[in-house]
Amino acid sequence: MDVILINGSPREKQCTYTALMEIAKALNEDGINTQIIHLGSAEKCNDNLFVSNVARLVENSDGLIVGTPVYYSAATGMLSMFMTNLISRCDKLKLALKPAATIASARRAGSISAIDQINKFFMYAQMPIVSSNYWPMVYGLKASDVEKDLEGLQIMRTLGHNMAWMIKSFAIAKVDKPVVEKLIRTNFID
Ligand SMILES: Cc1cc2nc3c(=O)[nH]c(=O)nc-3n(C[C@H](O)[C@H](O)[C@H](O)COP(=O)(O)O)c2cc1C
Repeated sequence: MDVILINGSPREKQCTYTALMEIAKALNEDGINTQIIHLGSAEKCNDNLFVSNVARLVENSDGLIVGTPVYYSAATGMLSMFMTNLISRCDKLKLALKPAATIASARRAGSISAIDQINKFFMYAQMPIVSSNYWPMVYGLKASDVEKDLEGLQIMRTLGHNMAWMIKSFAIAKVDKPVVEKLIRTNFID
């Protein structure tokens, strides 16, 4: 069982990464393999090959976690662009009912709107959103600040354990996915 974690910060190993690592550790403790993908730059997020490779990894995974720093009370622009490209390149049948979650790191405020923004991609793709024991956010300007945010780290660990539980429960349930209806699209013109 595998979970893909995406770091939407341009900074590879700072606050968002520290939070994602805490989730990864909890997942690993529960026997789930993890892979953290660093987006790095806007160019990469718009690169067909890179996005398609991540899309295949996500399709074949059992869960997806996306982390973002808060930029102007929103997710980073490059993560927004990446998510738009990713979701449009994924086979929606493979995303449907795959557990997902968003976490955010902020210096001070704006986390909830950033989390809402990314969770909407999951709602669009029929992905159940995994929650934790409190709002899924940490605080800091640098990695060492997040290491001191004991409440934030506990929220991350709880999220990891909750996702592991959900993935394992889905696997043993062995219930067929709901029948997919032929899509009806109305656009309210005429
Ligand atoms: C361009 C920019 C905009 C930011 N806007 C906000 C903001 O609106 N609210 C906030 O609390 N922190 C803001 N920050 C701070 C970062 O969200 C915060 O330091 C975050 O933990 C950095 O994560 P990282 O170390 O993974 O990059 C901003 C930082 C940058 C560079």
